[in-house]
Amino acid sequence: MNILIVDDSSDDRSILRTMFESHGCRVREADNGRQALAEALVRRPDLIISDALMPEMDGFQFLRGVKADERLREVPFIFYSAVYTGRDEEELARKLGAEAFVVKPLEPELLWRKIERLLERCGNGDCPDAVTTDEETYLKEYSQIIAMKLEEKVSELEDLNLMVIKVLVNALDAKSTWTKGHSERVVEYAVRIARNAGLYEGTICRLKLAALLHDIGKIGTYDSLLDKPGKLTDAEFALVKQHPDKGVEIVSDIRQFDDLLPVIRHHHERFDGSGYPAGLAGEKIPLLARILCIADAYDAMTDDRPYRPAPGKAYAIGELRRCAGTQFDARLVESFLQTEDTSE
Ligand SMILES: [Fe+2]
Repeated sequence: MNILIVDDSSDDRSILRTMFESHGCRVREADNGRQALAEALVRRPDLIISDALMPEMDGFQFLRGVKADERLREVPFIFYSAVYTGRDEEELARKLGAEAFVVKPLEPELLWRKIERLLERCGNGDCPDAVTTDEETYLKEYSQIIAMKLEEKVSELEDLNLMVIKVLVNALDAKSTWTKGHSERVVEYAVRIARNAGLYEGTICRLKLAALLHDIGKIGTYDSLLDKPGKLTDAEFALVKQHPDKGVEIVSDIRQFDDLLPVIRHHHERFDGSGYPAGLAGEKIPLLARILCIADAYDAMTDDRPYRPAPGKAYAIGELRRCAGTQFDARLVESFLQTEDTSE
């Protein structure tokens, strides 16, 4: 069978060529309607498949030309379009005589099945009316496949998202043995607080990302400060205090993280307004940042630091209680302690 593929995209022509050749067809190509019409008149194809938008002569003009020529009129014509903009394009293509209408991206195997059915019906003199039912089946199958593929792509992108974040966090962990594992533990504690506080799972997903990224700005802090065995001087502490803003700078180009920026920026604010960088107080501090603040402090108190061994769980719980309402949001401290085993 001789096929004429008409498309200005060489990528799409190549997809179609591969599909047709794998089914034993001979293929010719043209990249616009004018060239295709000349090609078809030199040697009559058994089937034409044409894109809609092309330079020089678009698919509609080409279709009109084919159906106006008595040598080509009977050649089955499959029309396809890059974007399905509604019934208008399809109706126009059908009015001009196209036997079938397909929407890109092309799904080669489904398209082939459609072509087989189309040719069979045209061969039986049953073309193009029978194609209407066929078209509905095709569109149904096609939309199912596209939905499935979209779902796969979304899930791949989410995985990629998480991997990129983990790479960033690993880069931070690699700077200092003391920060290693901190972000993952903060995720665990923060999620516990959020679940106990009754937050939606969708919000908790965003909280997990923010928890992983909350200290990412420390990548821009000198290693010597992260590993310093003694207390930081005021000047050194001033540098460390820049990490929430640096973190925001690092991830601000990722549009999908826009909602995480205030959480990263304000995770060191205190409920009484004495924190940094903005000195926000009470509920002016974003909820997820208030949660991170508790999770962060709890991990700091239960994990060794270069300048001191971990004070321990009992001490940490005592501190959370003591500072509830001043440093921390008291209701969220309660949410955390609800399920925290308070025994050492
Ligand atoms: Fe921090």
